[in-house]
Amino acid sequence: MGFPLKKKESYIVAVIGATGVVGREMVDILEERKFPVKELRLFASERTAGEGVNFQDRSLTVKRLSREGLEGVDLALFSAGEEASREFAPIAVSAGAIVIDNSAEWRMNPDVPLVVPEVNPDAAFSHRGIIANPNCSTIQMVVALKPIHDAARIKRIVVSSYQSVSGTGKDAMDELMDQTRALLSFRDPVPHVYPFQIAFNLLPHIGSFDPDGSTTEERKLINETRKILQDDEIRIAATTVRVPVFRSHSESVNVETERKLSANEARAILATAPGLLLYDDPQRKIYPMPVDVAGTDAVYVGRVRVDASVESGLSLWIVADNLRKGAALNAIQIAEKLIQAPR
Ligand SMILES: NC(=O)c1ccc[n+]([C@@H]2O[C@H](COP(=O)([O-])OP(=O)(O)OC[C@H]3O[C@@H](n4cnc5c(N)ncnc54)[C@H](OP(=O)(O)O)[C@@H]3O)[C@@H](O)[C@H]2O)c1
Repeated sequence: MGFPLKKKESYIVAVIGATGVVGREMVDILEERKFPVKELRLFASERTAGEGVNFQDRSLTVKRLSREGLEGVDLALFSAGEEASREFAPIAVSAGAIVIDNSAEWRMNPDVPLVVPEVNPDAAFSHRGIIANPNCSTIQMVVALKPIHDAARIKRIVVSSYQSVSGTGKDAMDELMDQTRALLSFRDPVPHVYPFQIAFNLLPHIGSFDPDGSTTEERKLINETRKILQDDEIRIAATTVRVPVFRSHSESVNVETERKLSANEARAILATAPGLLLYDDPQRKIYPMPVDVAGTDAVYVGRVRVDASVESGLSLWIVADNLRKGAALNAIQIAEKLIQAPR
C-alpha cells in the first residue's frame, strides 16, 4: 500500500512538460476543474524554459526541470517523455511528491498501478509513489469495454485505431499544418517528425517495429488493456494507424464475449456506464467523429451492432479526445481521487 497524499486545503502541483500539448492541457484542466492548487510550478527542458503559460489570469514562467525545483511538491504531473520520467519521477518521489506519469516508462512495472478512474479507481491507492496514466488509445478503449466485460466477459478484442497527430506532440501538429499548406500551394511536403508525408495520407506505423512485425503502440494497447482489466486471458489483436486529424483518436473495435449480448443490451449497458456517452443513431447520422469530440471530456461510443462473424460478438466505434481523456484529464481525475479519499 502506498503513502496517502497528505490532506491539505490546497497543494503544490508541478507540471513537467508544461509547454507540450498534454502539459498545456493539464494546466487548463487544473484551472477548469478548480483543483485546489496552492502553487503551480511549470517545467520543461532548456528548449522552452522561460516561456510563459497562463494559469488563473497570470502568466507563469516555465523553468528548466531540476531536482531543486521539485523540492516541496505534493503532486507531480509528468508529461515530458520517458527519459525525463525515468530520471526525475523517482527524484520527485524521494522529495515527497506523488507522481502521476503520462509516459510509457513505468506503465508495465508491477509495482506501479496503471489507472483509469472509471475502470480501476482503487488501484490508484496501491501506489508506492508513482501512478501511471495509460496510453491514450488504451484509455478510451477500456472505458468503453469495461462495462461490456463486466456484463458478458470479453474473450477476444480486435482493434484498429485511427490516431490523430496530436498524439505525437506539438511538432507533429505543426508538421500536418505545414504539409497541408505546402500541398495546397503545389509545393512538396517535407517530413520531419514522421517517416512519410502525413497530410492527405495515413501511416500504418505508430512507434517502432518489433521483430514480429507489430509496433510498440500495438503492444502497449494489448499489454496495458490486460493489466487494467486484470485479465491476462483476453486475446487482443491491434493495428494502430496515424491519420491526418489534429485531435481525437478513433477506434474500430470488435469484441467476442462469453455471454451473447444483443445490440440493444449492449447499448443499455453503455448508456449508463461512467465516463461514456452513447452517441448512436445511424439512421439520423448520429455517430462520433473526431472533430466533434475534440475539446470534450467523455469517451463517445457509436455504431454499436452485432458482429455476426462470430458466435457472440459486437462491433463498436469509439472516439475520445486524446489530449483530454487520453492524457491530461485522466491524470487529473486520478489526482482528484487521491485528494478525495477518506483518511
Ligand atoms: N499527446 C498525447 O496524446 C499523449 C497521450 C498520452 C501520453 N502522452 C505522453 O505525454 C508526454 C508528452 O507528450 P506531448 O504530446 O505533450 O509532447 P510534446 O508536445 O512534444 O511536449 C513535450 C513536453 O515535454 C518537455 N520535455 C521534453 N523533454 C524534456 C526533458 N528532458 N526535461 C524536461 N522537459 C522535457 C517539452 O519541453 P521542451 O519543448 O522544452 O523540450 C515539452 O514541454 C509523452 O511522454 C507522451 O508519450 C501523450
